[in-house]
Amino acid sequence: MPILHPDERLLVATHNPGKAREIRDLLGPYVGSVITSGELGLAEPEETGRTFEENAVLKARSASAESGMVALADDSGLSVSALNGDPGIYSARWAGPEKDFTRAMEKIHRLLGDCEDRSASFICVLALAWPDGPVRTFEGRVNGTIVWPPCGEKGFGYDPVFVPDGYSRTFAEMEPADKHRISHRAKAFEKLLAVLSAPAS
Ligand code: IMP
Repeated sequence: MPILHPDERLLVATHNPGKAREIRDLLGPYVGSVITSGELGLAEPEETGRTFEENAVLKARSASAESGMVALADDSGLSVSALNGDPGIYSARWAGPEKDFTRAMEKIHRLLGDCEDRSASFICVLALAWPDGPVRTFEGRVNGTIVWPPCGEKGFGYDPVFVPDGYSRTFAEMEPADKHRISHRAKAFEKLLAVLSAPAS
């Protein structure tokens, strides 16, 4: 399996600035330079997959084919147990075209009603695609609890209503460096970096 050459520029297939910021923080020390498909003005493919993995592969393949670069995509979302895993792969879509996450968080709160089970997980699947074909995927997950009302101003998306297990603050109340130590994205990146830093075979 090929590995990324240290001089090679990595394309991150996202138009989401919150995600791009976290990925830059996580990859910064390991990759020469990072550019996003949003910055390059590449098309945003329709997410037609039925799983995080299918969507991550679809986005990485599309960005890599369009640019001729090695491309990394992240498909991620919040899975709420009592809502049968929703919003799941529809996490971004629940916020609508205006990307209104206050509305999306309120929807979770409304649907949960007085249900006692508040357990949820953030899931992240990373896909790394080379223009000549191979794709590798890496999954990370963090379990936690949905809280109400939303708390904190840091982070993005559903961070204000998610308290990771073992902590008393939401992701949005944590310093980014603290979230990066435990998040679903950080766990997926640990697996990815193990591959990027392995000797070529
Ligand atoms: P997609 O992977 O582009 O389909 O979008 C994933 C969506 O899941 C984001 O827009 C956020 O709403 C949500 N999400 C994924 N990761 C996080 C996170 O770390 N914090 C908060 N929300 C997240």
